Amino acid sequence: MIRLRNVTFRYDSAGAPALRDLSLEIRAGESVCIMGANGCGKSTLARILAGLLKVSQGEFVLTGVTDRPIPVGILFQNPDNQMVAVTVEKEIAFALENLAVPFEEMDARVGATLKRFGIEHLRTRLTSELSGGEKQRVALASVMICKPPVLVLDEPDSFLDARGRVALREEEEQIRHENADMILVRITQYPSVAKRYQRLIVLDRGRVAADGPPQEILADRSFRHKTGLCYQSDGVPVELPQPLRRLSGRNSLVHRLAADAVSFAYADGRTVLKNLTITLNGGETVGLVGATGSGKSTFGHLLCGLLRPSGGSLDYYDADGKEVDIALIRGQISGVFQQPERQFFLPTCAEEIAFGPRNLGLSITTEEVTALFDLVGLDAKVFAERDPFTLSMGEKRRLAFAAVLSMSPQFIVFDEPTCGLDPAGVGRFIKMARTLRQLGVGLVVISHDGTLINAVADKVLHFRGVGEYHHCSCREFFESDENASILTPVDGQYAG
Ligand SMILES: Nc1ncnc2c1ncn2[C@@H]1O[C@H](COP(=O)(O)OP(=O)(O)OP(=O)(O)O)[C@@H](O)[C@H]1O
Ligand SMILES: [Mg+2]
Repeated sequence: MIRLRNVTFRYDSAGAPALRDLSLEIRAGESVCIMGANGCGKSTLARILAGLLKVSQGEFVLTGVTDRPIPVGILFQNPDNQMVAVTVEKEIAFALENLAVPFEEMDARVGATLKRFGIEHLRTRLTSELSGGEKQRVALASVMICKPPVLVLDEPDSFLDARGRVALREEEEQIRHENADMILVRITQYPSVAKRYQRLIVLDRGRVAADGPPQEILADRSFRHKTGLCYQSDGVPVELPQPLRRLSGRNSLVHRLAADAVSFAYADGRTVLKNLTITLNGGETVGLVGATGSGKSTFGHLLCGLLRPSGGSLDYYDADGKEVDIALIRGQISGVFQQPERQFFLPTCAEEIAFGPRNLGLSITTEEVTALFDLVGLDAKVFAERDPFTLSMGEKRRLAFAAVLSMSPQFIVFDEPTCGLDPAGVGRFIKMARTLRQLGVGLVVISHDGTLINAVADKVLHFRGVGEYHHCSCREFFESDENASILTPVDGQYAG
């Protein structure tokens, strides 16, 4: 059993507590879902349950499982924080190695686990080179190999495609079936996921705001709004701050990107893209969809000039149809990548936002930086001086948006932009994307989220396999059930 009594937790003694006077009990055999806005304390609670953080005040006790070698298994929100070994098989074997399991037994259990999680083909791959979704599956397998009596899953589906999500659900059901006494704690941003559980706990600014059957809690619209669990889909455009308003007046250089028979192979010889041809225009939003590992992010990196095609060409054209050199248009084509912290390197959030424009020789005032914080829904007073690496996942995602938007780019690649965002943040992103599009900015949105693609994309480029790409209008894409099935359903799950 898990019991928290009047638990308060502070990351830093001077700052506001991340959890406040929180009390709850979870009994053996229970499956509990946790929801709440970005920064409300979900991951902090998960880390307390896993024994990785000590409560500042109050009491946390775990009973009935302490005799087990690994009483709590945790899947972190960012699978990168989990990977310790060089290859997938070593990663899966890591916990068993630590428990000194004899080699033959270990080998058999690793093999069985790889099979069970459908990742045998990844066995010898380097963990650092896996896609986000692949990492999440490997991480889950590496946690489950020890069958921990308490399992904490912190947004385990954020990088998974539709198939991966079905596999995760089946896996969860199977694990539950085999371990009737296990405690399962699942953090999610999706009401449709929460509804599968018997018990939902909603956190709001570090406190328990609701604890009960999900159907009842989520039926209360004003409660969902208050706690960031749904978005306002009113179509009112967002107010763009000054640095972005520069866009409309700017003699925008890049107007069109043309990929012509682009191929790409990584250094190990694996071909990821073959013969990909597409034109992207300013003022147009293209959704990139396809299974985990199909090369979407690689294409995003190519578009931004971070990788070079191994074959074919990527050309950039101005409004008169003249070709422009990518070296001359620094900052005009920018990307917000899947793991936002990979783009942070400065000591404070405010510096992170100001860096891009300053680096390009443009000016940015403190007021403009504050306006960018507002745009993404972060309070400048709280975040300006914070270390970007201490932000919660959703807060990092928001900061990464602001740090790229500050450069007023003409094309932006957003890789899984809603991954980790709360529903209110998704609504904010959709409005922002629509406003940017009206200003003539070209957007590329990589996502598994049907609601998002449906709301923002004009065109959809479907990565079906290496060398197999199909693009069509967004409407056409969603007319086919088979197409739509690769994304999470557009069921208005977040809508207010
Ligand atoms: N290492 C840290 N140092 C200081 N503050 C932190 C640290 N980690 C988290 N916080 C703050 O504690 C609060 C709770 O963070 P936590 O990661 O638990 O939120 P969360 O509910 O999981 O959010 P998300 O939905 O974005 O994942 C946030 O305000 C966050 O900025
Ligand atoms: Mg979190």
